[in-house]
Amino acid sequence: MTSIYSQRRAALAAQLGHGGVAIIPTAPERARNRDSDFPYRHDSYFYYLTGFTEPNAYLVIAANGHSTLFCQPKDLEREIWDGIRLGPEAAPAVLGVTQAHSVGELNKELPKLLENQTTVWFPFATHEALTAQVDGWLTQVRARVRMGVSCPSSQQDLCTLLDEMRLVKDAHEQDTMRRAARISAHAHVRAMQTSARMLRAGQDVREYHLEAELLHEFRLHGSQFPAYTSIVAAGANACVLHYRADVAPVRDGELVLIDAGCELDGYASDITRTFPANGKFSSPQKDLYQVVLAAQHASAAATKTGARFNDPHEAALRVLSQGLLDLGLLTQAKHSSVDDVLEKKAYFPFYMHRTSHWLGMDVHDCGSYVEPGVANTAPAKADPLTGVMVQARPSRVLHPGMVLTLEPGLYVRPSEDVPEAFWHIGIRIEDDAIVTATGCELITRDVPVEVADIESLMAK
Ligand code: GLY
Ligand code: MN
Ligand code: MN
Repeated sequence: MTSIYSQRRAALAAQLGHGGVAIIPTAPERARNRDSDFPYRHDSYFYYLTGFTEPNAYLVIAANGHSTLFCQPKDLEREIWDGIRLGPEAAPAVLGVTQAHSVGELNKELPKLLENQTTVWFPFATHEALTAQVDGWLTQVRARVRMGVSCPSSQQDLCTLLDEMRLVKDAHEQDTMRRAARISAHAHVRAMQTSARMLRAGQDVREYHLEAELLHEFRLHGSQFPAYTSIVAAGANACVLHYRADVAPVRDGELVLIDAGCELDGYASDITRTFPANGKFSSPQKDLYQVVLAAQHASAAATKTGARFNDPHEAALRVLSQGLLDLGLLTQAKHSSVDDVLEKKAYFPFYMHRTSHWLGMDVHDCGSYVEPGVANTAPAKADPLTGVMVQARPSRVLHPGMVLTLEPGLYVRPSEDVPEAFWHIGIRIEDDAIVTATGCELITRDVPVEVADIESLMAK
């Protein structure tokens, strides 16, 4: 049986053009201090093409479909310390590559794979020092031109091909992402219930208590790591977009914003829920929450095959802007209509990030956000708030199998212009959506979003 990885290598080889050779390193190991390393995480491109998670490895793919893996050699002593290695002898049978060498042979063997080829493909600006390595290999090939060898004469960015391939998730990837999403959703349920239960018991609840619940649930179900640093933000901390789980108290009467998702078998999930610490929304909390929730429903309704990447954002902005007017956070006196709010970006002090990003192996996954191959249709325009020149390029058309987040929010800082009841409230609701033929599949809804459902879950 041909593995998904062999199929992907063949699909990539077919795009390299006559005489093209692709080089894909995995990620380096990184020292934390002295003898301790940061937990190792493979490179996503490399994993996409091999399913191989050992460090110190390179994959080379030729246009004729031949693939060569360079990997760590078997070494009894190192394996006692660091664990079993696959080794180049076993790699062809296990991974389906055409041949394999020890990574120690890299500088001897790689130039041979470039001889008499025309183009070297590698991920640009992704691996520190790779450009210098490629230069070294090309120098070795060029040293042999007097022996009649020809040297590649062009370099191409492999990201352009791999990003397009990774943007549409195949059935295997979607299945893994659904499983990751389910684990993360249950972790959020667990954190919500723990918050209410501990407060009911009169305990001193801290952000890290809730983070511990998330991590426990992730690992319990086989997740290797969190997909990104978990945000557990109690009360006003929710208005800090990149806050982390810290020691702040989770207080009765305040909201908690949790943005956390696990990585499972190389794929990320990304969920945000905002809930009352004690399980019951206050009236202003509920009013603001309902606006964000309605914006998220609108963004989901706008996510479908044939729509554009920006459509969910624009749908969310319209609902958020109307809500800001309805609740008096923006005044009708200053802003005559929703269109006026949108035009002047008056929502920006309350909503300063975008509604979506691609999701996949990386939490902010690769893939162009504009339609490739379409030239600018209009001259660059100055952003009304920042003055930064922005290119008006048509955003990406959505296709089945693309995966994006839907994550509108509102963040209210103290200000004389804003009713005090809303001060320090930060709300975001984030789900992961797979684009389907007719709409989208929200794969993270094992954790509720509706007010009544959150309250009933937390009462249990
Ligand atoms: N957790 C990162 C994000 O939501 O984009
Ligand atoms: Mn996100
Ligand atoms: Mn998130």
